[in-house]
Amino acid sequence: MSNPVYILNGPNLNLLGTREPHIYGSTSLAEVEDMCKARAKDRGLEIKFHQSNSEAEIIGWIHEAINGSSGIIINPAAFTHTSVAILDALNMVKHPIIELHISNPHNRESFRHHSYVTYAATGMICGLGVNGYPLAVDAMADLLKDL
Ligand code: DQA
Repeated sequence: MSNPVYILNGPNLNLLGTREPHIYGSTSLAEVEDMCKARAKDRGLEIKFHQSNSEAEIIGWIHEAINGSSGIIINPAAFTHTSVAILDALNMVKHPIIELHISNPHNRESFRHHSYVTYAATGMICGLGVNGYPLAVDAMADLLKDL
């Protein structure tokens, strides 16, 4: 069995479902995790799904993923726009990295238009709501198949 795909979620995503539902929808993060698990099972992947409001904890999971994962799907949330430290950690990862956003940061405030994480990302999915999560699992399965 190959290593799991890490799915990492940044700050405030623990409140998904109740947090600004007009932007992020009404599906909870636990439901999103179930959606990812179901799609991963279909695609023969194992996932490890995490969320933290702490930059340090997210960096710890990325370090773990350097040797312990086959790829990373990351919604860094607000750290997308601020964290050189998360970028530096992702730059050590040799596996595919998918940057994921529920909303489309490019049609929102200008401070959301810049992403540090993009420099390390193989590709990005954004603006498709929580459906972006299972799509990212599919995209990761396709990327890993082609390796
Ligand atoms: C987000 C977009 C970010 O700009 C924002 O800070 C988030 C969520 C998204 O999933 O759309 O917390 O990453």
